[in-house]
Amino acid sequence: MCGIVAYLGNKSAYPIMIKGLQRLEYRGYDSAGVALLNGSLTIIRRKGKVKDLEDFAVGKNLSGTVGIGHTRWATHGKPDDRNAHPHLSGNGRLTLVHNGIIENYDTLKKALEKLGHVFHSETDTEVLVHLIEEIQTRDNLVIEEAVRVALQKVVGAYAIVVIDKEDPDKLVAARKASPLVIGIGTDDFYIASDATPIVEYTKKVVYLNDEEIAVVKKDGSLQIFTISNEMQKPHIQQLDMELERLEKEGFDYFMLKEIHEQPRTIADGMRGRMNAEEGWIRLGGVAEYVNKMSKAQRFIIVACGTSWHAGLIAEYLFEDLARIPVEVEYASEFRYRNPIITENDVVIALSQSGETADTMAALEMAKEKGALIYGLVNVVGSSIARLTDAGSYIHAGPEIGVASTKAFTGQLTLLTLMALKLAYLKGTITNSYFHELLTELENIPAKIGKILQNAEQIEYIAGEFKGASNALYLGRGYNFPVALEGALKLKEISYIHAEGYPAAEMKHGPIALIDENMPVIVIANNKSAYEKIVSNIQEVKARRGVVIAIVEEGDEVIKHIADYTIEIPATEEPLSPLLSVIPLQLFAYYIAILRGCNVDQPRNLAKSVTVE
Ligand code: AGP
Ligand code: GLU
Repeated sequence: MCGIVAYLGNKSAYPIMIKGLQRLEYRGYDSAGVALLNGSLTIIRRKGKVKDLEDFAVGKNLSGTVGIGHTRWATHGKPDDRNAHPHLSGNGRLTLVHNGIIENYDTLKKALEKLGHVFHSETDTEVLVHLIEEIQTRDNLVIEEAVRVALQKVVGAYAIVVIDKEDPDKLVAARKASPLVIGIGTDDFYIASDATPIVEYTKKVVYLNDEEIAVVKKDGSLQIFTISNEMQKPHIQQLDMELERLEKEGFDYFMLKEIHEQPRTIADGMRGRMNAEEGWIRLGGVAEYVNKMSKAQRFIIVACGTSWHAGLIAEYLFEDLARIPVEVEYASEFRYRNPIITENDVVIALSQSGETADTMAALEMAKEKGALIYGLVNVVGSSIARLTDAGSYIHAGPEIGVASTKAFTGQLTLLTLMALKLAYLKGTITNSYFHELLTELENIPAKIGKILQNAEQIEYIAGEFKGASNALYLGRGYNFPVALEGALKLKEISYIHAEGYPAAEMKHGPIALIDENMPVIVIANNKSAYEKIVSNIQEVKARRGVVIAIVEEGDEVIKHIADYTIEIPATEEPLSPLLSVIPLQLFAYYIAILRGCNVDQPRNLAKSVTVE
């Protein structure tokens, strides 16, 4: 993971680095560091957050108009000062920041040690800067050429930016499998892992492609060539991102802001794509491939984490509404399983970041085998968006909180539209049901708004369970994946152990765990399996479990059995996850806050997982 930011121009680089690193902190926060070129090279690195780096930097010489910065999510070597980036070459001439993993670092390190190189960190990154140094000094090369030759010897993933002290008017950047964007200012350049540190300075950007190297210079030139030394024409794009959406807007945490944004983000995801009154759905990305999709022998959905949960709900949607067989796969398992994929399959990747390494690799494999690959991503211009044959953006805006919330409901909205579109074309649902679902979809943002007004009750219930060590989440049908998602939210931000289960599966094992200390959160707003869920709640109560039930407004039956009920508006069953997940997001949020956790930056996690 890691966030990279770099600047070259006439402004003071340090404040740009710090602000950029804060924006990228969601990608990792084990340590932070900057290198500034000001005649000599100043490197400041510190374990911890960007704030710790800033405190540490007070009183130091922070001048310089060229700089590189890094916020780390450690893969090789523990999170400490020594392993923090930027890393320095042995001769002190080069310094570099890196996002990714150099897989053959051990072989390279041993070879370099034999040549006399001495390493001061445990990282794979330090090996790379020594390798570039070795090649540069041996062959007397300019820095970009040394980088190019060195990268030919590297196996793995990288986004790097390098400073050469002896060649102070340029920065060299390169990428393979980790993202890098170059912002072109009026007389300066910005480089970063995503566009968030760049947007306030310029809207002109170039997304670097795999195995490309870029050289930006103080004379205003930008040159791009490949590792095999072919010149490339920079493809300049216009950024479509609003600065305000990168700020907390008065909320204590990004996660809370993002939970509350959902009525708007869902409406944004639907805007221009459907009209309930006129009864149409238009998805730009699908239009061209709609025939192939409706005739597909099956859909294979690949994703990780929360996106995988959205995929599980899509399985219900596509099968139930459009009668298309669906398999939902953990991308990390799928890519190594030698799966059977044919040209008649459609492989759909779900990803908020569009950068998840396993999801990317699964897609690449499917592409090679001839399947149509479709991406449903949030981050515009991300690697998955660029790799896929077709796709749709979910338009949820930047999601900064590490725990995914609005991207999940954005994915569900689009998946519902896709399923409905295909169902309509295939004639697998009646016209009236099609219209009913479309109309109800338009009502969802307002209904979410209503649930959000009830946040205080959810905060109160969270207070009752803040000391819990375990929790069980149960749901059936469309709401079984919501149980998994509720459990994941609680685990990742409050560190309470939680499990999600299909409600009926409970009696095959997990029921043994139930006693008076076990909160059991039951999603009970399904209409079709209502009686069965009531029975499952009875089974928990009979074992003295404590039940928190998510029920439809006006439910009188469960209210009398469960210990706590959270009412949510009624809706059509295929849309019910869009509502039932909201109280679970809030519940996890409030418990985590009451336990004193940093919900935006939970321990050990990072927002975008660009390593395996
Ligand atoms: C969600 O709360 C998690 N932090 C995580 O599981 C995430 O959903 C997963 O890493 C997938 O990310 P992506 O959607 O960006 O591909
Ligand atoms: N491998 C490098 C390190 O551990 C970079 C990590 C990353 O990008 O996740 O420092």
